[in-house]
Order: sequence, then C-alpha cells, then structure tokens
Amino acid sequence: AAKTRPVVLISDKLSDAAVQIFKDRGVDVIFEPDLGKDKEALLERIATVDGLAIRSATKVTDKVLEAAKNLKVIGRAGIGVDNVDIPAASRAGVIVMNTPFGNSITTAEHAIAMMFAVARQIPAADASTQAGKWEKNRFMGTELTGKTLGIIGCGNIGSIVAARGIGLKMRVIAYDPFLTAERAAEIGVEKVELDELFARADVLTLHTPLTEKTRNVVSRERIFAMKKGAIVINCARGGLVDEAALREALDQGHLAGAGVDVFSEEPAKENVLFGAPNLVCTPHLGAATSEAQENVALQVAEQMSDYLLRGAVSNA
Ligand code: MLT
Repeated sequence: AAKTRPVVLISDKLSDAAVQIFKDRGVDVIFEPDLGKDKEALLERIATVDGLAIRSATKVTDKVLEAAKNLKVIGRAGIGVDNVDIPAASRAGVIVMNTPFGNSITTAEHAIAMMFAVARQIPAADASTQAGKWEKNRFMGTELTGKTLGIIGCGNIGSIVAARGIGLKMRVIAYDPFLTAERAAEIGVEKVELDELFARADVLTLHTPLTEKTRNVVSRERIFAMKKGAIVINCARGGLVDEAALREALDQGHLAGAGVDVFSEEPAKENVLFGAPNLVCTPHLGAATSEAQENVALQVAEQMSDYLLRGAVSNA
C-alpha cells in the first residue's frame, strides 16, 4: 500500500507559493486561510492534521493543542510566536518553528518609513493638501541627519534598521542584552543601557519580541524620561508600549509624534491612541510586502516538509 502523505492545515492567509511547495515535496494541504478567525471550526479541523501553518490570526491555545491529536509541528510564517502557547506545545510534544529572516528587511523598511512619515507629518500633510488647504506653515518637520536613533532589540530586524539609520547619517545606539561588544562594533552601533537609551534617543524604535521581560518596556516612566520632542516607532508588538501613557505624552506635546503599526489588541478597531496628535498608524503591515510574504511562505513550507518527511529541524 502507498505510504500515507502527511497533511498540513494552513489556517491563515499564506502565499500560494507555500501550497505548491508542500505538494511538490509530498505533503497534502488543507488551505483554509480564514479558519484562524473561527475558533470552533479550528478545533474541529485540527483534530487529524500533522502540521499547522499559521501567520498571526490563528491563536494556538492549550485548547487547540488538546484537540490536535495528530499534530507534530506548527510553522509560523513570520517571526513572532506570541500567538502560540509554547509551554502547552512543548507538553504536547509539538515542535514550533518560525521563519526568522524572511521578513526582516521588509519590517525594517516599514520602521524607517514610519520614522519619515512622523518626522515630516506626511499622512496629515497629504490629507490636508488633497483637501485643497495648502497649509505650508502647519507642517514644519524635523531633519533626521545627525539625530540619535535608539534601537531596542538589535537582532535580525534591529540590525537592518541600524544599517539604514547609519546610511541616513543618524547616530545609532542600541539596547540589547544579547548584543556583544564585537557585534556592536561590527555594525557600527553604540551599545547602551536602557535608561541611557531613553534619555538620549531622538527617535526610539522597537525590534524585540513580546515576552514577560519586554512587556511594557516603553513604560509611562520611561516615556516621560525621554527628551521633549522625541519620536516613538513601534513595528514590533503592541504589548511593548504603555498605550495610555503614549497617548498622554502625545497630547501634552512631550513627544513630537509616534508611528504605531502594532497594538495591544488586534485587530485594533478602536484604541486609546487613535486621534492623538501626529500619530501615524498602520494595521500591522510590518511584514506586508509581496517579497516578504513569498519568503516566509516558502521558508515555512520547506522547514515543515523537512520535519514531517525526514524529521529535520530548523528554526524551532
Ligand atoms: C512577525 O512576527 O513576523 C509579523 O508579525 C508577521 C506578520 O504580520 O505576519
């Protein structure tokens, strides 16, 4: 009898390229890109599959893992695995993989785009211009050359942001407990402690995962310890920033602006930040380019196939 092929359920919007790779490699695919939003249906569909490929909409809870009797591997097409209950997965013997490189450049570019959008108030200036107002005096901006870019988390994404910042002639400082002195020297950043970073940054940008250690790292106290007129950019995770405190700092003009791509609750249909002065928001678009989505889909399909067919593990 023919050997049965493993089956992978794709429960979030993943590029078609992934489906093809799985099939070519010998893995069957159930492609239900909207399933991540339907908790009950997910519990049903997960029961028999060997693999689950996700982005961020699917929440892999203890309950989901309990229902997944056959599951061996979860593949996150992206970096953050905060939508997976990792301890529960470990208890169930399920391997969790991510794709740590595929969307790094795209996310770094989004942070840089946000920095310029805020520094020059581009979204508000666009709306005003297209409304026929020609408010040349209202939109006085900030030059970035010579300013200090403070990066929290100088790994795959943060180091690309650092390189772009240096290219823009910014001074780059970074807080990252995993950054060695050699690596810092190699990429041209000055390694500093957290308090110093907040005190010196003209632009602060976050590139760290959300963990119990990093939650609320941009706290009320630290926000108000920043220089007046500084800018905060968050293209990492919502829970890293005290949103209510950020709102106050914008309202009071303590901060000159903020670029926010990620929120404490997503989808963010409403948020305490909305409507704040010089706030630029995007709906978690950090990884949203065709290039990045192609990369992460290919990578996750290859890694999951390798594991299901040969037991080979990468990026777990
Ligand atoms: C990530 O962690 O890689 C991003 O949040 C990805 C995404 O938006 O899919």
